[in-house]
Amino acid sequence: MDELKQAYIEKLGKSLDMEQCIVDHLPSLIEASTNEKLRAGLSDHLKETREHVARVEQVLAGHKSGEITKKDDAFRLMVENAGKEIEKIEDPDVRDAVIIAAAQSVEHAEMARYGTLVEWAKKIDEDGDCINMLKKTLGEEEAADKKLSGVAEGSIFSTGVNEMAAK
Ligand SMILES: [Fe+2]
Repeated sequence: MDELKQAYIEKLGKSLDMEQCIVDHLPSLIEASTNEKLRAGLSDHLKETREHVARVEQVLAGHKSGEITKKDDAFRLMVENAGKEIEKIEDPDVRDAVIIAAAQSVEHAEMARYGTLVEWAKKIDEDGDCINMLKKTLGEEEAADKKLSGVAEGSIFSTGVNEMAAK
């Protein structure tokens, strides 16, 4: 059980880095997107993500002091690569679609992460408030992912396809 607790704390540290990485990169994605619903959704999620940082910090504070962040290199690389991909695209509709794809990859990584953390937290008898905070974040990541699917299905692709058909 000690080893699982160790792995849990390590993953929390990486999750803090993951959330901070999102706080750093989301503003440039919002800047690069043109669809109003997409911009609004990403802006809302930026606010939520700041809360996610605070929640992970709070959960970690119960286990660790001092340097609590653990670099999540794999996640950072994924975000960096997505940024490079987005930069290259000139068509605003295509850029929006690629931004949605990147944001959904991020959400799926976060959903997997928090799903794991919630289960591990239960197994190591984590404090109930901490489990609830992790669950709350998981719910918000799922909602953000659904919203992105809605934008992709509702506006960008359907108007784009219809416009293309009309030409
Ligand atoms: Fe998050």
